[in-house]
Amino acid sequence: MVRTTNDSGASTEGLGVLRISDPIEFLYGEHDRQLVICAALDHLASSPEAPDARETADLILNYADTDMPLHLRDEEEDLFPRLLERCEPEDGLENLVDQLEHEHETDSVLYQRFKDALHAIAHGRPLDHPDVFKSDAEAFAALQRRHLNWENGTVLPLARQRLTPEDLEEMRVSMAARRHGTTVD
Ligand SMILES: [Fe+2]
Ligand SMILES: [Fe+2]
Repeated sequence: MVRTTNDSGASTEGLGVLRISDPIEFLYGEHDRQLVICAALDHLASSPEAPDARETADLILNYADTDMPLHLRDEEEDLFPRLLERCEPEDGLENLVDQLEHEHETDSVLYQRFKDALHAIAHGRPLDHPDVFKSDAEAFAALQRRHLNWENGTVLPLARQRLTPEDLEEMRVSMAARRHGTTVD
């Protein structure tokens, strides 16, 4: 699912090489991918035995286990600290960042609850508790969409306004270095 256009702030140039040109656009691009994951989860929640269920479960597991942890570090280690430094108390960002970091933790706990069910679907096995999977997966997707609304609607626009070119360059280098096979030039 690696994007190959500059729209997301990323480009691919050869196998395994990802360049981040604009860290904020890159984060928007990751949020777009997360919305796809939410739709995939809703699809699985309602149709865990659909013909494409195994492939869909694999897609979700792959994103949640590899890209999502990197995204959380991009925000918690690169974006939020720099943005808090550049914002004024009246921006009200401190409370929002606290809330978003808390949601990162609670979403991870919720994901762990239905991860085994995703593995079962990916291997074509029947679910032990399909109703529990359905409610957990739908809850995760709904919480994730609300989280993305805050980040796309408030945090990233503020980052675009307040972060300096130096902040953005530091973020770009750090986020690129975090990814295996990624160049930072
Ligand atoms: Fe995010
Ligand atoms: Fe987040």
